[in-house]
Amino acid sequence: MAMLDSLYLICLLLLPFSSASAGGIRKLEEKQTHIKFYFHEIISGPNETSFIVAGPDLTSHVFGDIVIFDNALREGPDPSSKLIGRAQGTSILASQSDSSILSAINFVFTQGRYNGSTITIFGRVPASGTAERTVIGGSGLFRMARGYTISNVVNASSDSYIIEFNFHLLHY
Ligand SMILES: *[C@@H]1O[C@H](CO)[C@@H](O)[C@H](O)[C@H]1NC(C)=O
Ligand SMILES: *[C@@H]1O[C@H](CO)[C@@H](O)[C@H](O)[C@H]1NC(C)=O
Ligand SMILES: *[C@@H]1O[C@H](CO)[C@@H](O)[C@H](O)[C@H]1NC(C)=O
Repeated sequence: MAMLDSLYLICLLLLPFSSASAGGIRKLEEKQTHIKFYFHEIISGPNETSFIVAGPDLTSHVFGDIVIFDNALREGPDPSSKLIGRAQGTSILASQSDSSILSAINFVFTQGRYNGSTITIFGRVPASGTAERTVIGGSGLFRMARGYTISNVVNASSDSYIIEFNFHLLHY
C-alpha cells in the first residue's frame, strides 16, 4: 500500500513536466482553413426556416425587429444540393436609417469531415452588398477559431435567400 502511494506521488510530481516536450513547452501549430458553403433561408411557405419573433412589426423587417432562424447549410446554391448542417442564429434590425442587421450565428455541421464541430460568427450585415463578419470562436475541429466571413446573396426571391459564405479561419 505504502509502495503504491509513493508511486502515485511520483506520478503526480512528474505530471507537470511530461506535458512539455524536451525543448520546453510544446507549441501548437495554427492552421489556416478556407471553407465555402451556402446558407438557404426560407422566409415564407410551409418549410419556413426564418421567423420575425418580436419587435414593432412582425410582417416586414423594420428597426427593432428580432428574427430567429434555423437555416439549411448546403454544399451548393441549388436547394437540392447536399445538406451539411444548420445555420442557427438571430438577426436584429439595428439601424434607424436602413435595413442593416446585427447578426449572431452558430454554424452546426452535421455531415462530412466537420460533423460535430461548430463555428460562431458575429457582426454587421449591410442593407445591400457584401457582408464581412467576425469569427468569434468554434468547437470541435474549430476550437479557438478566429477569422472572418465574406458573404453575398446569390439568389433572392419572395420566398427565400440563398447566401454564399466564405470562411477564412485560423484555428488549432
Ligand atoms: C417542403 O418540404 C417537403 C419535404 O422536404 C417537400 O416535399 C416540399 O416540396 C417542400 N415544399 C415547398 C413549398 O418547398
Ligand atoms: C455525425 O456525428 C454524429 C454524432 O457524433 C453521429 O451520430 C452521426 O452518425 C454523424 N453523421 C455522419 C453523417 O457522419
Ligand atoms: C434562383 O432560384 C430560382 C428558384 O430555385 C431559380 O429558378 C433561379 O434560376 C435562381 N437564379 C439564380 C441566378 O441562380
